[in-house]
Amino acid sequence: MRTHLCGDITETLNEQTITVCGWVDRARDLGGLIFVGLRDHAGLLQVVIEPDNKAAFAVGETLRNEFCVRVTGRVRLRPESQWNSDMATGKVEVVVDELTILSTAAPLPLLMSDEDGEEVRLKYRYLDLRRERMQHNLRLRTRLTRAIRHYLDGLDFQDIETPILTRATPEGARDYLVPSRVQQGRFFALPQSPQLFKQLLMMGGMDRYYQIARCFRDEDLRADRQPEFTQLDLEMAFVEEADVQSVAEGMVRSVFAEVLDIKLPDPFPRMSWAEAMHRYGSDKPDLRNPLELITISEHVKDVEFKVFSEPANKEGSRVVALKASGGASLTRRQIDEYTEYVARYGAKGLAWMKVNDRDGGVDGIQSPVAKFLSAEVIEAILQATDAQTGDALFFGAGTEPLVAAFMGALRNKLGHDLDLIAAGWAPLWVVDFPMFEDDPETERLYALHHPFTAPAVPDPEALKQDPTHAVSRAYDLVLNGAEIGGGSIRIHDQTMQQAVFDLLGIDAKEAKERFGFLLEALRYGCPPHGGIAFGIDRIAALMAGENSIREVIAFPKTTNAGCPLTGAPSGIDAGQLDELAIALTKPPGSSDNAED
Ligand code: AMO
Ligand code: AMP
Repeated sequence: MRTHLCGDITETLNEQTITVCGWVDRARDLGGLIFVGLRDHAGLLQVVIEPDNKAAFAVGETLRNEFCVRVTGRVRLRPESQWNSDMATGKVEVVVDELTILSTAAPLPLLMSDEDGEEVRLKYRYLDLRRERMQHNLRLRTRLTRAIRHYLDGLDFQDIETPILTRATPEGARDYLVPSRVQQGRFFALPQSPQLFKQLLMMGGMDRYYQIARCFRDEDLRADRQPEFTQLDLEMAFVEEADVQSVAEGMVRSVFAEVLDIKLPDPFPRMSWAEAMHRYGSDKPDLRNPLELITISEHVKDVEFKVFSEPANKEGSRVVALKASGGASLTRRQIDEYTEYVARYGAKGLAWMKVNDRDGGVDGIQSPVAKFLSAEVIEAILQATDAQTGDALFFGAGTEPLVAAFMGALRNKLGHDLDLIAAGWAPLWVVDFPMFEDDPETERLYALHHPFTAPAVPDPEALKQDPTHAVSRAYDLVLNGAEIGGGSIRIHDQTMQQAVFDLLGIDAKEAKERFGFLLEALRYGCPPHGGIAFGIDRIAALMAGENSIREVIAFPKTTNAGCPLTGAPSGIDAGQLDELAIALTKPPGSSDNAED
């Protein structure tokens, strides 16, 4: 049907006759000549219809955007004054001999530009996908998965599929359920990850497994979360942390080199969870951002100002400062906006201090809390933060988790607003996570990773004695402030697994009911094993420079977990419900998030 791709027509084909197919990007009638921008996946090409080709000209006059056409014609050089350096094909044009309309297009429901809203882009995704941006992103994604397979195949990993219709695998989200018709009243859960199956594969002697696996999580959606998303999931037998990490970071390095020709550091730096939380207020710090939380508790222990002195003197609480270089020029209104911003993360306020003249002592600063602080205290704070004339300081006081939450968020925001984020790539292993998270409201422990992660303690007794201080053998890989992967060494001992279930409040009966198969499998010679899973959508988005993973997924869902293109999720007819023995208690499409 065609001899060439539009994007491949360059001056080397001068004077040759070629046939190309594609879509009309734009057709213009310019004083008797019709110029058509013809687009296919390889690029854009200028096509000219001259008036003496009467048949082609008549067809040309009917062309509208997105008509699908075939063109046979002769390549010729454009005069130098008409070269277009933005197009790979910008030095040539094709003079039409024959023009055939393969399909007409109705008037377009969208502009096919970045100005289109998300809803309309997703409803007409097949049109949106024709755009260069989406073509580029999906091709980049293909190169990414190809490079991943290339690397892991070279290390003798086996690509093994695991079930989609399965039992719940807890990863901290709600499950998507599928009713069984054959066993009425019973449900499959779609996997939140292949976690349990990959562990069973290690018990099955598979040694090294990987899978590019679809995962399903019914959770609140954001720019970096979709209800179904893709993991590169891998698992290895007879390994310790360093073995998994070396394969994982080797893979990331190789993939970045192959796909983007970018050299990442070797080895990746690593940091404990405690240090990351303390210095950056985040378990996924963006190390391109130079800002750090500076603890000033020791300097404000004795001040009158209770907002500072109380947390400064309390175990598990702290007072920190963030220095906004050049921030003295922030307006009152901008400062109020930052105060509102941190309130979303639970902050009761955001004390601040502008340094108008570093050498002017107390008179050189401007701050609503200055009146509560002595000259010595102010000097100590300025020294601790190395604040200079023209800077501003923001202060956060409270419990450690609260301060981390709102000052960590402020650190990110200031980094972007003040344009402090360095160019480049900053990978980081975050290690030594706590095993459990203590929820003061429910007074229960939650697994920070998942319940199959091994604690770094010698035996179940040690774990039970002091569970909240136990460190786990988990690791996350962070890139430019995004968590791109997470994994751990697993529990391979039944009594330890049972102990973790106990601590999580899963009693023996429930553990047997939900995970009996795993507990039993652990009894038959389970090898020590561990692994990791990467978020492919997140890596692809980072590589493409996109803020949302929706831009690197062909058919993503909207924030209310629906698909505007197909109208999924949809109601089902009474007959189907009846076959499944399901009765609805609310009309289809109603939502009840009361418990959220
Ligand atoms: P985890 O839950 O950390 O670990 O997931 C691994 C990686 O998957 C990506 N990810 C997501 N991407 C898009 N949308 C989502 N809703 C979403 N949720 C997670 C993240 C994350 O780092 N079974 C374990 C892995 C293991 O222990 O080996 C697991 O699933 O990039
Ligand atoms: P208040 O005593 O609540 O009026 O607060 C006095 C000043 O301290 C105001 O500038 C508040 O924004 C600030 N502030 C209040 N709570 C905190 C907090 N937890 N951390 C930092 N600053 C705070």
